[in-house]
Amino acid sequence: MSILITNIKQLLQVHDHNVLILKGEAMKTLSVLENAYLYIEHDTIIEYGDMKYCEGIEAETIVDATGKIVLPSWCDSHTHLVYAGNRTTEFVDRINGLSYAEIANRGGGILNSAKLLQDTSEEDLYEQSINRLEELIKIGTGAFEIKTGYGLTVEAELKMLRVIKRIKLESLAKITPTLLAAHAIPEDYREKKPDYIKLITEELIPKAAKLNIARYIDVFCEDGYFDINDTEAILKAGQKYKFRPKIHVNQFNILGGVALGAKYNALSVDHLEELNAEDIKALKNKDTIPVALPGCSFFLGIPYTPARQLIDAGLPLAIASDYNPGSAPSGNMNFVVSTACIKLKMTPEEAINAATINGAYAMGISNMYGSITRGKKANVIITKPLNHYSEIPYAFAHNPIEQIVINGQLKDIKNPEENFRI
Ligand code: NIG
Ligand code: FE
Repeated sequence: MSILITNIKQLLQVHDHNVLILKGEAMKTLSVLENAYLYIEHDTIIEYGDMKYCEGIEAETIVDATGKIVLPSWCDSHTHLVYAGNRTTEFVDRINGLSYAEIANRGGGILNSAKLLQDTSEEDLYEQSINRLEELIKIGTGAFEIKTGYGLTVEAELKMLRVIKRIKLESLAKITPTLLAAHAIPEDYREKKPDYIKLITEELIPKAAKLNIARYIDVFCEDGYFDINDTEAILKAGQKYKFRPKIHVNQFNILGGVALGAKYNALSVDHLEELNAEDIKALKNKDTIPVALPGCSFFLGIPYTPARQLIDAGLPLAIASDYNPGSAPSGNMNFVVSTACIKLKMTPEEAINAATINGAYAMGISNMYGSITRGKKANVIITKPLNHYSEIPYAFAHNPIEQIVINGQLKDIKNPEENFRI
């Protein structure tokens, strides 16, 4: 299998050397090759360059990309896309004035999704979830982090892990599983939270480790959910089993989760709608990447992550969808990239960097994904004819994509019969 894409108007995120992350000032530059070709063999990027050096390259499939832009597929480093049903009733409740916290306090929210998931068969959960994922592959996402967290019992959490594993084995997309061990406190444990923490640290984490599906561990560190001590206890227990943290922090309140994440060498700290100077200080010179989730701010009407403060402090930043039924029921990364520009005041260059190479870093896969580099996996987006890459975020809520290559396979995204499974 070989694919040659010719006459590319702009080939984005091209790096001869294997870049793993872009920080601060470096995020302002998007490396672009004009009038380029890209050559793929099997699932790998083999070569690229100026069209004048393309002569003599033969391939089974040739795609003429005249007037089009080619870039690495979106790398969505934060999703909860394995869930059952939806929460449209709460959507209407919020329109009518209830807040996210008020809905959660009366037993809705995450607890609602957990009840539904516990009552859904593994097969049905798999079908619902892979269908969501495939809709997103068609609009440009090639790598997804997927969290558990809607189980809230050991058995249901392990069921979620098995579903994520099956998706990982069967999908052409790259999947990074995360054990969201502590997402909410179940009703039965309301008055005895320490028992629930014990269940997580002494039963769930060891059993999940034994399944050997997820390498990352997550906690919803937030008022009314898990405080800083709970979070530390869970990260400590995870550490024993070699889980690396990727945690929910500062969505509504600052509890010190950012510094805790940095202390435990978290791969990422996500949300950060609230942020202070100490948080920024805690992230300096660390391997932990902050992740903004603009779709969540949009949907809940909460502040947007102060991306400028983070980037201007020299830090890296990734953007992700947070796709979940309660706070961000869309995984559309084209929209996330637009929103990052419009609301987080990121430049198109910064937003595209944040959604490709830095998104890959936030999943621990940027050695193989997130840039056009020889030897990296061939996951690319081919846009419709566009004059400039800035048009991708500019025309918000449009679909700029015409074709995709995923795991080295060219796909007709308009064909409803097209298959995205191995
Ligand atoms: O990332 N913050 C915690 N978890 C999700 C929302 C979960 C839900 O409401 O179902 C989030 O926003
Ligand atoms: Fe989330």
